[in-house]
Parts: sequence; structure tokens; C-alpha cells
Amino acid sequence: MRTVQLPGVSFPVSAICLGTAYFGSRDSEALAREELDYYYGLGGRFLNTAHEYGHGASERVIGRWLRDHGNRQEMVITTKGGEDHARPFARAMRRHELLEDADECLERLAIDCIDFFLLHIDDPNVPVAEILDTLHDLQKAGKIRHYGCSNWSVERMEEADAYADAHGIERFVMHEIEWNLSRRNTVNREMGIKWLDEEYIDYHERTKMPVAAYSPMAVGIFSKYAATGSFDTCSPGQQKSYDSPYNRRMAEKLMALSKETGYSIVELQIGYLCSQPRAFVDFPIVGSSKLSQLQESLRGIDCQFTPDMLDFLLEV
Ligand SMILES: NC(=O)c1ccc[n+]([C@@H]2O[C@H](COP(=O)([O-])OP(=O)(O)OC[C@H]3O[C@@H](n4cnc5c(N)ncnc54)[C@H](OP(=O)(O)O)[C@@H]3O)[C@@H](O)[C@H]2O)c1
Repeated sequence: MRTVQLPGVSFPVSAICLGTAYFGSRDSEALAREELDYYYGLGGRFLNTAHEYGHGASERVIGRWLRDHGNRQEMVITTKGGEDHARPFARAMRRHELLEDADECLERLAIDCIDFFLLHIDDPNVPVAEILDTLHDLQKAGKIRHYGCSNWSVERMEEADAYADAHGIERFVMHEIEWNLSRRNTVNREMGIKWLDEEYIDYHERTKMPVAAYSPMAVGIFSKYAATGSFDTCSPGQQKSYDSPYNRRMAEKLMALSKETGYSIVELQIGYLCSQPRAFVDFPIVGSSKLSQLQESLRGIDCQFTPDMLDFLLEV
């Protein structure tokens, strides 16, 4: 699999990262291992997990897979801390909480050092100084190689950048945020969920901070629309978040473009993210609930996504 280079990071990462949010919880360990083996077999070396996923189940499944394959040194691992898994969207970002999370992640993954440790969410009540100093201390202690954030506002990332520069420490090396061809309904903003809009694009263009694009298939809504002609088979939560005239038109556009180009709508969605004409690097983090879905998503890396295709899709 081809790789991309993140600024300030000495090792390359796979151009598609494997999402593991449901490993060991919704998805059995057997399915998780099939997906890991398949991804690894195609040359994929980049995994995305979190302290919070399945209350640690995802990290444990990955830890056992790494142990059984003896391939820890080949893999690049992102995990995330700072969210209190007992209460969804609750923050746990004080120094002692981040230190505890990092130690637990290391233990569950059964590794000595985390390649990328990200803040899963933000708590604006905790000063960036406390957060950055904690991450820097984890780096000095050899427990993490690099750090970044997820679901942060532009304003807080700018504050964090200024603090890092003033203190001669590393800036965040990536920002993990939802990015796909949908537009979310704004109701989700209240829960602290963020998605890439023009303000973020402007920030990432200015700073060159890479984007780790989560939910690249908009959690599968366009595939469901293509199969049934509506969002009715999406879960109630998905309908609340995504059912809108804009997204219905986008689904129709994707279906038309798929017919014209021969790429599936999943390949088009991955191609869109792998061909961004931007000043910053990005990569999708793909999720799936079946091996066949992952196989199709990974084919998206070969989608020749042209500017004309982009214009067609964005004229919705
Ligand atoms: N930092 C954060 O806050 C955050 C938040 C969310 C996710 N993430 C990361 O991003 C990863 C991916 O996110 P995600 O799972 O939310 O979103 P996603 O990759 O956009 O969507 C995955 C879903 O799309 C559908 N799908 C995928 N491939 C398909 C195919 N070939 N044909 C038809 N349907 C297909 C499936 O839905 P069905 O299962 O319904 O069929 C699948 O579960 C996660 O595993 C996690 O690592 C991070």
C-alpha cells in the first residue's frame, strides 16, 4: 500500500488507516483478526484505536494480534485518550487522567511506546498548558512518540500551537476529525462532535497540520441510500445526524458518478479523500462491519479521482 509522509514525523504511514472502533465489541475478535490480516496482507501498516473503544476491547484485540504476529515494529499505532468511557462524550483531560489513560493504553496494547497518542476530545476548561505539558512529559518518558488531537476547535488548536512554539515543544502532528462527502445536521455540534468545514480547511492549509479523516464513508449512509433509495434503513441516530436534502442529493450524485465511472460509491468516497488537492496531508480511517466492506474500501486507494468528478459532486 502506498504511504504518506506527515510533517515532523520520521516514518511514513499507510495512505489508508484501519479503523478499529468496534473490534471486540460489536465486531467479534475473529472478524477483527480477518480484517487486520487482510489489511496487513495488502501492505497496510497503520491502525487507529482509542482507550474508549469497547471499554478497552479494541486495544486488547490489537495487542493480541500484534503479539501473535510478532509484527509490532512494522505497525504504526494511533490511540486516543481523554474521554471518560463511563459516560459518552464526558471529558477526562486533567493531567492525572491523561497519564492514566496512556499507561492503560500501553498495557492493553502490550507495547512499550504509542506512535501517535491523540486527545479524543477537548475540554476547554483545561488549559492548553496543562495538556501540552502532560503530552510532552509522556514523550520525554518514551511512552509516546508523537501527539495530536481529535475534535478540537480551530481556536483551541491555535492556542495549543502558540503554547508549543513559545515553549519549544512539539505541536500537534495531526488532527483527527470527521471528513466525508456528507454534511452533518448541526444538532451534533452540541455533543462536541466536529467535522471538517471551511474554517478547518483554512486552518489546515495555513498550518499544514495533517488531517486524519474519520467516518470517511459518512458511516455508510450513502451505501444504504444507494441500496434502497432512501435513508430509511439508517439507524434513527444516523437519520437525525444526516438525513437532509443536501445529503439526499449527494447520494444521487454519487450513484450517477458511479454509473458513469465504474467505481463503486465507496471507492469514490475513499478516492475523494485520497486525492485532495490541498497544502496539507490527509488520509482516511476506514470502518467496516464485514470483511467484504473493507475489501471494497481499500480498493478506493486506486480510484483516479479527477477535478471534474469533484466539481460534479460538489455542485449539489
Ligand atoms: N476520533 C473520533 O472521534 C472518531 C469518531 C468516529 C470514528 N473514528 C475512527 O474512524 C473509524 C471509521 O469510522 P466509522 O466506522 O464511524 O465510519 P465510516 O468508515 O465512514 O463507516 C463505516 C460504515 O460504513 C459502512 N460501509 C463501509 N464500507 C462499506 C461498503 N463497502 N459497502 C457498504 N457499506 C459500507 C458500514 O456500515 P454498516 O455497518 O451499517 O453496514 C460501516 O460500518 C473508526 O473505526 C475509528 O477508528 C474516530
